[in-house]
Amino acid sequence: MKLTWLGHACWHLNVDGTSILIDPFFASESIRKIGEALPVDYILCTHGHADHCSDVVSICKRHPNSVLIGCFELVNWFGKKGVRSVEPGNPGGTIMTSFGSVTFTFASHSSQMPDGAYGGIAVGFIINTKEGSVYVAGDTGYFNDMEFIGRSGIKVAIVPIGDRFTMGPEQALEAIKVIKPKWAVPSHYNTWEPIRQDPVSWAKEVHCQTKTQPLIFQPGESKEL
Ligand code: NI
Ligand code: MN
Repeated sequence: MKLTWLGHACWHLNVDGTSILIDPFFASESIRKIGEALPVDYILCTHGHADHCSDVVSICKRHPNSVLIGCFELVNWFGKKGVRSVEPGNPGGTIMTSFGSVTFTFASHSSQMPDGAYGGIAVGFIINTKEGSVYVAGDTGYFNDMEFIGRSGIKVAIVPIGDRFTMGPEQALEAIKVIKPKWAVPSHYNTWEPIRQDPVSWAKEVHCQTKTQPLIFQPGESKEL
């Protein structure tokens, strides 16, 4: 699988020719150019905050056959904005996809659509593929069910480390200890001053205190995992 960071909490995953875009929000014009050039079959949106969904509608227009996966209230809201193909869900539920399946997980966070509408609850996703599972924690604080999520066998865990609105580095380290993924990828940091963090020192702690390999991306960078 090929994973690309499009900055902030926006990720692009290509598995066996299928492309999955997570939390479309292009924080800069250079990132937008990269993001808009990538193929998209599925869009996964964790919650309704603008830094996770402000580019959903434009991406769906650009890729009219793409499918939007998200919380029931969130995808219904986007349905009214012209998004044609949606797959609603909620934590505990699994949706079958062409590449495998997507399981909705809890996330300890709020969710409100850009116009103030109720967005349901914030969620995370386990993306299950033939090449392993990717856990996208979304915006969340630490919660004990992360141990349960880890029991399913996670290859890549994408976790926020920015603090203030999500887990900071300490909680994210505790999360990795119970999820026990093969790879740990920090997300949701350094986009703005209030979430400034040092991913290198976090990666050092992950390396010293767990058996997980930390993996830091630069915005726009892709890695084969
Ligand atoms: Ni948020
Ligand atoms: Mn956020």
